[in-house]
Amino acid sequence: MAVRRLADPAIQPKSFAFTVENLDWAKGEIAKYPEGKQASAVIALLWRAQEQAGGWLPQKAIEHVADLLAMPKIRALEVATFYTMFNLAPVGRFHVQLCGTTPCVLRGADKLIKLCHERIGEPLEVTDDGKLSWIEVECLGACVNGPVAQISSFNGTGPQVNYDYYEDLVPESFTRILDDLAAGNTVKPGPQVARQLSAPVGGPTTLTDAALYVRGNGEQPQQPALSDAAAKKAGEPANMREAAIPKPPAGDASTKRQS
Ligand code: FES
Repeated sequence: MAVRRLADPAIQPKSFAFTVENLDWAKGEIAKYPEGKQASAVIALLWRAQEQAGGWLPQKAIEHVADLLAMPKIRALEVATFYTMFNLAPVGRFHVQLCGTTPCVLRGADKLIKLCHERIGEPLEVTDDGKLSWIEVECLGACVNGPVAQISSFNGTGPQVNYDYYEDLVPESFTRILDDLAAGNTVKPGPQVARQLSAPVGGPTTLTDAALYVRGNGEQPQQPALSDAAAKKAGEPANMREAAIPKPPAGDASTKRQS
């Protein structure tokens, strides 16, 4: 983990205030909390301040949020310096947060960390062209698809966009993603191997026996279980696709109510 310190005073702006639009939004957030608990909005407001400031949190922005919430400045500083989602200094146009926690390291994140050092530089350094920066973070909550990197892109004129996860990374795919981002090419977020979301690589491995899908009426399915893509295709609701329970013949005694 990198040391979490405020940016050098030389690059700190002299002032910060929310825009009218952001201030209105902030008031709405604050109003969600009971009287006396307004400080609970600190994360949301710091996040919006970071977006307004262009992808990082100047000291004045943190203090502005503390003032709005009537909380001691040190409390807001504690929050901003604790969470790695808050950037305490300017970051690259594409900021990589690379998971360095055990499950991802067991799947090769250490190689990606080495790659970041070589390709980008030291954590929180910005490349000379201003395109890339990186930081090692704790678990991103997508361990099943490790190694994982979250890459946010700052468009230079407004809020950050594309807080996307890139998963199942290996040095080759990670290098390609970084190169494509730096070159302005479109990249595909999510798993970088042949799997859908967190499903097994290569397709389903369980519940594949067609006998499991025999209908309630004993009828055998006419075709194998749906593929993932077919199952997700919009169509009739499941209850309409099921065959109706066969009606007994008219006059069948079993259909008459017992009185
Ligand atoms: S350990 Fe890397 S996402 Fe959880």
